[in-house]
Amino acid sequence: MRVRGIASALARVSQNCSSRLLEGRAPLIQPHSQRPAGVIDELTGKVVRATNDTLGAELPNVDLRQDFNFEDCETLKQACDDAGGILVFTNQAPDLTVQEHVEFAKIMAASDDTCVEPHAVSAGLPDAPEILEIVREANAGVVFGENWHSDNSFHERTGSYSILRGAEVPRLGVNDTLFSSTEDAYDGLSQTMQNLILDLNAYHSANRAYGGGHSGNSRAAMEATGTMRFRDHMPILETDVLQPVVSVHPRTGRRSIYVSPTFTTHIDGMQKEESNSILKFLYHHVARPEFCTRVSWVPNQVVMWDNRSLSHKGIADEVHERRVVQRVSIRGTSPMNHKGIQYSLTHKVVAAQAGLFD
Ligand code: SIN
Repeated sequence: MRVRGIASALARVSQNCSSRLLEGRAPLIQPHSQRPAGVIDELTGKVVRATNDTLGAELPNVDLRQDFNFEDCETLKQACDDAGGILVFTNQAPDLTVQEHVEFAKIMAASDDTCVEPHAVSAGLPDAPEILEIVREANAGVVFGENWHSDNSFHERTGSYSILRGAEVPRLGVNDTLFSSTEDAYDGLSQTMQNLILDLNAYHSANRAYGGGHSGNSRAAMEATGTMRFRDHMPILETDVLQPVVSVHPRTGRRSIYVSPTFTTHIDGMQKEESNSILKFLYHHVARPEFCTRVSWVPNQVVMWDNRSLSHKGIADEVHERRVVQRVSIRGTSPMNHKGIQYSLTHKVVAAQAGLFD
């Protein structure tokens, strides 16, 4: 009895210590007046608008170089859930190293019994191969990650958290990262539409974004930089995997629209036109302003987001500036549908040909 009392007291102390991480938690800054007006989304043809100012939270007092314990990680993951999947860690050490960035991701990954996922196509940095460095040269014609996606949805075990550090940040309010809550977007569908898509599955393909032969995809964006290098072996380009169109978040149980114009090729069992119509509708729905928020970049900032509840894209509204961000992704699980069924470990096909906007 006494031992249990001591154990729960220790757990409370530990939780109290972890709660220090949340000190100063604040809504995201939204420098609306500094954002260029009238930027057109290539996919929807509409002006980019984001009006969900409650999505995301800033944590200004979390030094990512510290030795986080399990409770600390849980505190951060819970805060991320509470914020709809986005945490912005401001006030990081200006000299935060790439190794320290990777180490934080490894600690978060270990707390979920998983690992970091080096990018399957990009070779990563020479001194930190786990880091995908996303470079936009000034005046680049095509931009990596400019279309909506959830990181690594083409893997059997897809991305859980991504952790992005601004290395060469743009001026405040331009070249933001745009997020949409795919959970709010699912909730925003009519019951009839929810029922219609609940048991559908769709193939996701790395080859769509990273395969050759298309001038507008991420491969073309990588080739246009001087520094983004490809891996020598990229078996991921050969196989596409099946994922539920509506996935269930393993922590919160919330349902999410899990398709993207960057990686999804088609809905299984449908004719091309049928699949295209439904996917197009879902892409436009996810991009609706009420589900979206913009994360603006300030120096010494790291953003962590949950790919299981969000879709995102890098906005390119100031193409004359060079911009460099560095990402580490954490491996999640095989996405699950509302019946608890997973497909990606067993359902694979030969990769579809590349081409983003067909
Ligand atoms: C990404 O797609 O992970 C990067 C988003 C960005 O460039 O803002």
